[in-house]
Amino acid sequence: MDAALAVLLTAVLTLIIGKLVLFRLRCPNAPPCISGWIPWFGVAFQFGKGPLEFIEQARVKYGPVFTVFALGHRYTFVTEEEGIEAFFMSKDVNFEQAVQQAVKHTVSIPAKVFYKNRYNLYVMLKGKMAPPNLHIFMKTLCKELHEFVEQLGTEGTEELHDLVRHIMYPAAVNTLFGKDIWPTSRSEISEFEEHFQMFDEDFEYASQMPVCFLRNWSKSRQWLLKTLEKVTSAAARTNPSKSESKTVLQHLLDTLPDKHFAPNYSLLLLWASQANAVPVAFWTLVFIISHPDIYKKIMDDIVSVFGNAGNDKTEISQDDLKKLPLIKWCVLEAIRLRSPGAITKKVMNPIKIQNFTIPAGDMLMISPYWLHRNPKYFPDPDMFKPDRWKAANLEKNAFLDNFVPFGGGNHQCPGRWFAIMEIHLLVVLFLNKYEFILLDTVPKESHLHLVGTQQPTGPCRVQYKLRE
Ligand code: HEM
Ligand SMILES: *[C@@H]1O[C@H](CO)[C@@H](O)[C@H](O)[C@H]1NC(C)=O
Ligand SMILES: *[C@@H]1O[C@H](CO)[C@@H](O)[C@H](O)[C@H]1NC(C)=O
Ligand SMILES: *[C@@H]1O[C@H](CO)[C@@H](O)[C@H](O)[C@H]1NC(C)=O
Repeated sequence: MDAALAVLLTAVLTLIIGKLVLFRLRCPNAPPCISGWIPWFGVAFQFGKGPLEFIEQARVKYGPVFTVFALGHRYTFVTEEEGIEAFFMSKDVNFEQAVQQAVKHTVSIPAKVFYKNRYNLYVMLKGKMAPPNLHIFMKTLCKELHEFVEQLGTEGTEELHDLVRHIMYPAAVNTLFGKDIWPTSRSEISEFEEHFQMFDEDFEYASQMPVCFLRNWSKSRQWLLKTLEKVTSAAARTNPSKSESKTVLQHLLDTLPDKHFAPNYSLLLLWASQANAVPVAFWTLVFIISHPDIYKKIMDDIVSVFGNAGNDKTEISQDDLKKLPLIKWCVLEAIRLRSPGAITKKVMNPIKIQNFTIPAGDMLMISPYWLHRNPKYFPDPDMFKPDRWKAANLEKNAFLDNFVPFGGGNHQCPGRWFAIMEIHLLVVLFLNKYEFILLDTVPKESHLHLVGTQQPTGPCRVQYKLRE
């Protein structure tokens, strides 16, 4: 070997080892670190290939708290309930700092603007979509869902995921953003769906890498932003003065001082409102249809609330939904089993978790996906058992312990009750109208999604026909 190269290598190695030793001296109580041997990249490749499996194996090997070094960052996972409280409640960890980069990459909202507006927007959204206010959406949502379900005709065969998407995208968008200001023709809706699907599919990559590597994704983003520019200016033009008459989009415009960022914020809200709700609705239906005993019970419930099939019930109230708790439990159970791989905060000051001190600068992660498979809290964790939700005090809007698909504390998803209601309603409308048969075996989940609900990995076609 060339002598100069040998010297260089030695120097690099010394530097790396030196850095590690220094780190150990500064942070003697840091958790075990899985760093691999490739400088900077760390274990990015192994981790990226199957993040959920990687987390599970590391937990077995290193215990409940460990650090993964990848792409120059330290990601510290806390996989047991003891650390969860600190994750959600501690003032030493920060949500904005953890997601700011992703927001900047995906919708080009700079850090300063994001920090300035996030809290006000969050409070507004949380208020508008709080349980006591959900009835405001109910009528429109029901009408919209019904209208798009109607377009399915008397029978057909389709990929279930597409079926759900074609109905939820336009219905949710018309409800939250306002109906009259959106493109409404069928071809415009499908163009919108195409671009949004592309945007959603690569959102996770886009949040982590320069978007110049994602040309089609950038094009779709551009298309969506252009559409949203028109939509937001129409929403501003028609913004009513009475608070009750405003759409969520119009409330967003009122809350946002930097109006020229409206399309970018709208795209972010649009993504948040759809990215998880659509796959959760898909999984809820798959789980129901593939469990004949549960499917039958649900149909009996529906008949007892609405009368016999073929009634074409078009208006469903919150009281009707209350009489169908098993379907709501199925929604929650689907969420439990298909939750995001991780939610993240940034450590601002060293924080103690169990016997470890997590150094400032680390990304602190918990994994809803794995927490929801802890048999201590969810007996038979891999089984789809909607009855376990009997024990939750849903009347008081409480979930089961350690159910964290929406995050927790001050940053808990402000759209969670809206999402649950929307999916509950969709499932009721679907099952009341059509009989479903799965044509494929139940697909496996991707195990790839860190920030979002797990997606199906294979086809899942259904046959549907009007109930008689
Ligand atoms: C089943 C469906 C949904 C799931 C699983 C979900 C999950 C989440 C999660 C995990 C977070 C981040 C919390 C954290 O990191 O601490 C979040 C935040 C958020 N979600 Fe959802 N969400 C869903 C539906 C919705 C819907 C329907 C909307 C809007 C209509 C929405 C709007 C938001 C917003 C605006 C935030 C950011 C909150 C902040 O700034 O702190 N989500 N959601
Ligand atoms: C990007 O779009 C082009 C043209 O629409 C298409 O041919 C190509 O397959 C797309 N690439 C990816 C990676 O989706
Ligand atoms: C909104 O996002 C687009 C696309 O990234 C960007 O070109 C534009 O500058 C952003 N808007 C503002 C006001 O920065
Ligand atoms: C923490 O340290 C104490 C005392 O050193 C020990 O008894 C305990 O088992 C440790 N706990 C964990 C979770 O490692």
